[in-house]
Amino acid sequence: MSTRTVIRGGLVITASDEIHADVLIEDGRIAALAASNTPAAQAFTADRTIDATGKYVIPGGVDAHTHMELPFGGTFASDTFETGTRAAAWGGTTTIIDFAVQSVGHSLREGLDAWHAKADGNCAVDYGFHMIVSDVNEHTLKEMDHLVEEGVTSFKQFMAYPGVFYSDDGQILRAMQRSADNGGLIMMHAENGIAIDVLVEQALARGETDPRYHGEVRKALLEAEATHRAIKLAQVAGAPLYVVHVSATEAVAELARARDDGLPVFGETCPQYLFLSTDNLAEPDFEGAKYVCSTPLRPKEHQAALWRGLRTNDLQVVSTDHCPFCFVGQKELGRGDFSKIPNGLPGVENRMDLLHQAVLDGHISRRRWIEIACASPARMFGLYPKKGTIAPGADADVVIYDPHAEQVMSAETHHMNVDYSAYEGKRTTGRVETVLSRGEPVITEREYTGHAGHGVFTPRSTCQYLN
Ligand code: URP
Ligand code: ZN
Ligand code: ZN
Ligand code: ZN
Repeated sequence: MSTRTVIRGGLVITASDEIHADVLIEDGRIAALAASNTPAAQAFTADRTIDATGKYVIPGGVDAHTHMELPFGGTFASDTFETGTRAAAWGGTTTIIDFAVQSVGHSLREGLDAWHAKADGNCAVDYGFHMIVSDVNEHTLKEMDHLVEEGVTSFKQFMAYPGVFYSDDGQILRAMQRSADNGGLIMMHAENGIAIDVLVEQALARGETDPRYHGEVRKALLEAEATHRAIKLAQVAGAPLYVVHVSATEAVAELARARDDGLPVFGETCPQYLFLSTDNLAEPDFEGAKYVCSTPLRPKEHQAALWRGLRTNDLQVVSTDHCPFCFVGQKELGRGDFSKIPNGLPGVENRMDLLHQAVLDGHISRRRWIEIACASPARMFGLYPKKGTIAPGADADVVIYDPHAEQVMSAETHHMNVDYSAYEGKRTTGRVETVLSRGEPVITEREYTGHAGHGVFTPRSTCQYLN
């Protein structure tokens, strides 16, 4: 039996338009839009009506960078697919793309199967996978072709973390050449990990063990150098490139220069680089460990370049790199040695609100908010227009957003399975009220009404974002 829902009276915001419109949903998809209070809108009939007067009606967020249950530094990211996707829904995100991991000596298939097993039947919202390639060899390269065919169309490589995820330049070039052939997109963790490891060793030998030294050894110049090298390798391979978690002014400059040269080079930044800084890493009593991630938080001065990049489209996407570790028992593994602090910050629940605050603060426009958080990631990773917009035929992943409600971010009230908030005490204006995933209410007037297993694996086409 078909169910029809109509959302009446809200301001529908997409990456391209803002219009007071009623939205008709049928069988989990957007069936039609019509300007509110017109005969066309009045003709919409439905089993369920949602009154969105005074609210925004926006596409569900697409968070293209999460790590649920990631094994890292002898422990696991504390959100499971169940808790993490529920928290995503609370924050207005209805699609995540998580990273399946190939371990060295194992196949891509084994890694992907393991991640499917973790996610299957547990997710509150839809999900896709990127594949972390840690072991480039003839077999892996062939497997990349098969993964692209089954909707895992992007591959992350690491110029950092020698001995764990690291690939050398030859391995990177081979994977890029393959992706140039099969349509895959290489996502690069661009930091010179070999040089960083030398600086880590030297810092520890000097007795510099506090979290703030994590920021000092992982230098902006070494992010810029790796970004530049990745761009040149991609150019040689004739492949597009997406640089993840860009944090340094100098790295943005590398991307901007490449784009000015007409190269298909793209960049993502994350809320932590836009709102937090080395001041947080320097918090006393080991509290700085809460802010250890890689690339690291930078001095505040870098934030202006990131906002500017988001406005000029030198950066296209804001994802969270959600990779939570509890302070107690997990971040604490690095007391006395910053290099043993598991890397990552929680944030999947906070992204849409922080970026709405950025609209109010004058950094970006409302439509750019939707573009960088919904439409661009969907395009970049082959989900558009099924995800990332509100248009006839799209999945009815829709958020009713109250732009006036005020909130205070806190571990006391968030839904992520982690014992601290990176934004504790931060006041923001704007709040998710109701969330539909394929037409089904997952959050209803700030109550969780979803269920584990509603979210399904969503195969993706190849990158649709070629300029
Ligand atoms: O610190 C981070 N970013 N942890 C997650 C792994 C990665 O490099 O994205
Ligand atoms: Zn990374
Ligand atoms: Zn990551
Ligand atoms: Zn369901």
